[in-house]
Amino acid sequence: MRVILLGPPGCGKGTQAEVICKTFDIPHISTGDILRNNVKRNTEIGLSAKKYMDIGSLVPDEIIIQMIKERLLEDDCKEGFLLDGFPRTITQAESLDNLLEQMSISLDHIINIDVPDEDIINRISKRLSCANCGEVYNLLYKVPKKEMTCDSCGFKLHQREDDKEEVIRNRLEVYRKQTAPLIKYYKKKIKNINGSKNISEVTNDILDILK
Ligand code: AP5
Repeated sequence: MRVILLGPPGCGKGTQAEVICKTFDIPHISTGDILRNNVKRNTEIGLSAKKYMDIGSLVPDEIIIQMIKERLLEDDCKEGFLLDGFPRTITQAESLDNLLEQMSISLDHIINIDVPDEDIINRISKRLSCANCGEVYNLLYKVPKKEMTCDSCGFKLHQREDDKEEVIRNRLEVYRKQTAPLIKYYKKKIKNINGSKNISEVTNDILDILK
């Protein structure tokens, strides 16, 4: 199964991707996670991407498109994949179309998770992440058992640089200008989901579409 999860920052793409990928045994390809991993390792991509990520702007298309091309050609993507956070511009969507055509494959589902801005700000400003294993927590809904410590690996939790309120507001603005036009681009295939429900209700709504 080949799926795209669309939606504004903090709408729950990563949270839902985890369950979907386990259910259908497909790789979770998050451009945000790949970029953060590059930043952590100080790679060339990481060094160029960090300045954009820290202020909530998009990393240039050519960097992202090359990264995705390489990832989709890996063996584990043969039976399907879930794209989380890609595409984010019309240019990226067009490149993805070309790439899929060259690979003679097509997308099965495009799901858009919709959440109002104020809920997003509330959610993301309470998010904590583990830089070691990637587990995500939330001081409102998914509290770590031990304060500021990852339940899964015991590593110290932190707040993402781009989860500060002023940066979140910029990410929402960038989303509206550069990413929201994808809803029209994919209008024939897209299914909208109300992402304001609780996490398991949103999961059930998505699984109803995918099954
Ligand atoms: P990226 O990491 O992709 O960030 P994002 O899309 O802004 O998404 P988030 O990871 O913030 O949120 P999410 O939708 O995954 O929500 P989550 O499940 O974590 O990108 C970061 C940066 O990288 C970008 O700003 C850009 O600079 C760069 N980048 C990445 N991809 C790019 C691309 N293609 N092109 C150019 N640049 C790119 O949930 C959020 C919180 O809410 C969590 O705490 C969670 O527990 C909680 N939560 C989730 N669902 C619910 C619910 N239903 N109810 C209550 N709480 C919930």
